[in-house]
Amino acid sequence: MQRRLHADQPDHFAFTAANRAWAEAQIKKYPDGRQASAVIPLLWRAQEQEGWLTRPAIEAVAEMLDMAYMRVLEVASFYFMFQLQPVGKIAHIQICGTTSCMICGAEDLVAVCQEVIAPKAHQISADGNFSWEEVECLGACANAPMAQIGKDYFEDLTADKLRGLLSDLAAGKVPQAGPQNGRFAAEPAGGITSLTEFVNAKIKLNASVQLAEDIGDSVKRIDGTEVPLLTPWIDKAANGAANSGKTPPKAAVRGKPANAQKPSAKATADKTGVTKAQAQASSKAKPPSKRNPVGEATVAPGKKPRTMKAPRKAGADDLKLIKGVGPKLETILNTLGFWHFDQIAKWGDDEVAWVDQNLEGFKGRVSRDNWVDQAKLLASGGETEFSARAKKGES
Ligand code: FES
Repeated sequence: MQRRLHADQPDHFAFTAANRAWAEAQIKKYPDGRQASAVIPLLWRAQEQEGWLTRPAIEAVAEMLDMAYMRVLEVASFYFMFQLQPVGKIAHIQICGTTSCMICGAEDLVAVCQEVIAPKAHQISADGNFSWEEVECLGACANAPMAQIGKDYFEDLTADKLRGLLSDLAAGKVPQAGPQNGRFAAEPAGGITSLTEFVNAKIKLNASVQLAEDIGDSVKRIDGTEVPLLTPWIDKAANGAANSGKTPPKAAVRGKPANAQKPSAKATADKTGVTKAQAQASSKAKPPSKRNPVGEATVAPGKKPRTMKAPRKAGADDLKLIKGVGPKLETILNTLGFWHFDQIAKWGDDEVAWVDQNLEGFKGRVSRDNWVDQAKLLASGGETEFSARAKKGES
């Protein structure tokens, strides 16, 4: 298939301020004279911002990287991940049509796309919301047939399931990614026969799906407002503040509050380049562990934090403003005797280890999502990026 620039092109492309700051930070990853190495991330960010790659976007990237337009066009037209024509406003659906998926029903999925979206690949639906194409193997063959929608994989599909996904997306919902037939991951359809700890731990979603759920941006355009855009190699988050002259938040890790301390990249602590602050931060992030007699790491039981029998008279805090705490975890926390941000803010490593061990099917979430730093900020009346979004109903 020939991949050419689309006939209708906009006059202009510009990265948003935050995306530009992020793109400039990408370029800094590479030595002088090797800026062209950033061409794929920059093209990808341009596509994430606009939905597809326009000629002005390709030219803008070429100028940022001091490359000939033709060289950047060569990259954009070589990789199928780059869309050289407009896509649906809500989502572009990529149906895998390679062997496993074809055998398991990809043609039915294509038929749904033809019926619901448009008869031909890369045509946009009449309402402008969707487009589709058939792509080569996306590497999820054990969950065939499958489709990539936006950033996430939707697996074990049937025609009806795909119809349902399209109608959810049209209604503004972001459906849960991953297997659509109740499978946890790629275990046998008849049920798991080994590695049963996930079942025993009652973990409902595999790690990829959980991450997709946590982020919730499957089909969202990325304009940089979804801080933090990570640029840890220059010790900054590239967000709106970074480009507006304000001090950027120091914590550049998704889920950390904007005021959490990030170690300096400078004060080198050892030959590996790990700074003392980084070493301390890393040891703080993990609950204390030791080894059992056969050498496996075991987590220390920790120390039970002070609890309360009931919330204070003014009412419990909304613990769901802590990233990583959903309704179920909030109930568990309340049951354990935790109702307020300032309770969580006081937990030290031992307390974190104890709570992490007592979260039923959510073990390890306290340290994984750094609840303590988030709670400190919320208890002091501040906002995390997540809590601000949650209050606006965007999370
Ligand atoms: S054949 Fe469809 S994901 Fe591999």
